[in-house]
Amino acid sequence: MDQADYTTLIDAAIAARELAYTPYSRFQVGAAVLTASGQIFRGGNIENAAYPMTVCAERVALFNAYAHGEREIVALAVVTDTADVASPCGACRQVIFELAPRSQVILLNLAGARRVVTPSDLLPHGFGPAQLEESKGR
Ligand code: THU
Repeated sequence: MDQADYTTLIDAAIAARELAYTPYSRFQVGAAVLTASGQIFRGGNIENAAYPMTVCAERVALFNAYAHGEREIVALAVVTDTADVASPCGACRQVIFELAPRSQVILLNLAGARRVVTPSDLLPHGFGPAQLEESKGR
């Protein structure tokens, strides 16, 4: 990923945060993914009055990319307006592990703090498609 892609991705995540639908928590999260084809897909968290139906920004962005046929995710940026960088929830870590296994995950806040991690950093010893393939089954 070159510097221009990196800057575009971060800007897309910041813009996506503004589109979050968060009437309940008022906690806006923005995410954007860069795909191997060079496209960027955005997502903000989308809440629901039935609270558990809420979908985090990371999953909205990844599902947006997959819904458009993209399968190779180069990088995922996640932005929050917090004192330190965002920390993806457990459900998102599981989804990132499978849908963006070779990606750089860039966590940032609006104040400029940044941390780059891998899906395995977020979910060590994660369960994924490889385990299903290893199973002998019956
Ligand atoms: N949220 C995200 O979108 N991403 C995260 O990594 C953590 C949490 C959302 C879910 C909910 O809409 C709000 O933040 C508060 O939990």
